Amino acid sequence: MSSSSLSLVFIFSFSIILLMSTMQTISAATTTKTSYKNFIKTSCNSTRYPKDCKNVLSPYASTIKTDAQKLCDIALSVTINATCNTSASIESVSKMKGLSPSEKETISDCVETTGDAIDELKQSLTALVGLQGSDRKAEMDNIRTWVSAALTDDYTCTDEFEGQKVSKAVMNTIKKSVLYLAKLTSNCLALLNLLDS
Ligand SMILES: *[C@@H]1O[C@H](CO)[C@@H](O)[C@H](O)[C@H]1NC(C)=O
Ligand SMILES: *[C@@H]1O[C@H](CO)[C@@H](O)[C@H](O)[C@H]1NC(C)=O
Ligand SMILES: *[C@@H]1O[C@H](CO)[C@@H](O)[C@H](O)[C@H]1NC(C)=O
Repeated sequence: MSSSSLSLVFIFSFSIILLMSTMQTISAATTTKTSYKNFIKTSCNSTRYPKDCKNVLSPYASTIKTDAQKLCDIALSVTINATCNTSASIESVSKMKGLSPSEKETISDCVETTGDAIDELKQSLTALVGLQGSDRKAEMDNIRTWVSAALTDDYTCTDEFEGQKVSKAVMNTIKKSVLYLAKLTSNCLALLNLLDS
């Protein structure tokens, strides 16, 4: 074999090895991605609204990886942001003209309760991020208590719609939005329960 054909053989086999290792890397990355998605799927399976859980958390799979605490951080953060948005929308609706007194009352109560929910959720997230070994159990209990309180606040708003004629589209939208917040908040509670206390 001439030296040039020998080097050709060498380059050829080297390319094969390179190709194989690249393929292995790609397949490992795919496996990792799948396992991250599966982690979210399995965790969300323990919630009451698994579909909403998966929908909101899947975009963060590469951040969450298989970290149960990170999963809760993100779930809380998403819920806080959604609650802030909804609360702001409700507040702007409360300034609309043409609302009946009872509608006005319902809406301003919802501004208040969603505002309280934001405070409680933020308090939970701060505590969760700063969670320390020593007082972990007591702190987890506090976190769950605050998230439960946020859930109660959401339901306090939606309960006001019961027995009321919700004829206006805007009233229906508020009720639906806050029910969605309650679902996200309920899911946070279930995910927090997956963390060892
Ligand atoms: C979800 O939970 C159900 C029962 O609780 C179980 O049968 C099912 O295998 C679980 N699915 C996943 C993806 O973990
Ligand atoms: C929530 O909003 C804050 C501030 O706007 C942002 O920094 C954060 O990334 C958002 N969280 C998620 C999970 O999108
Ligand atoms: C909140 O509102 C902002 C601006 O309208 C939007 O970009 C963001 O996606 C919303 N976040 C959530 C969690 O709904």
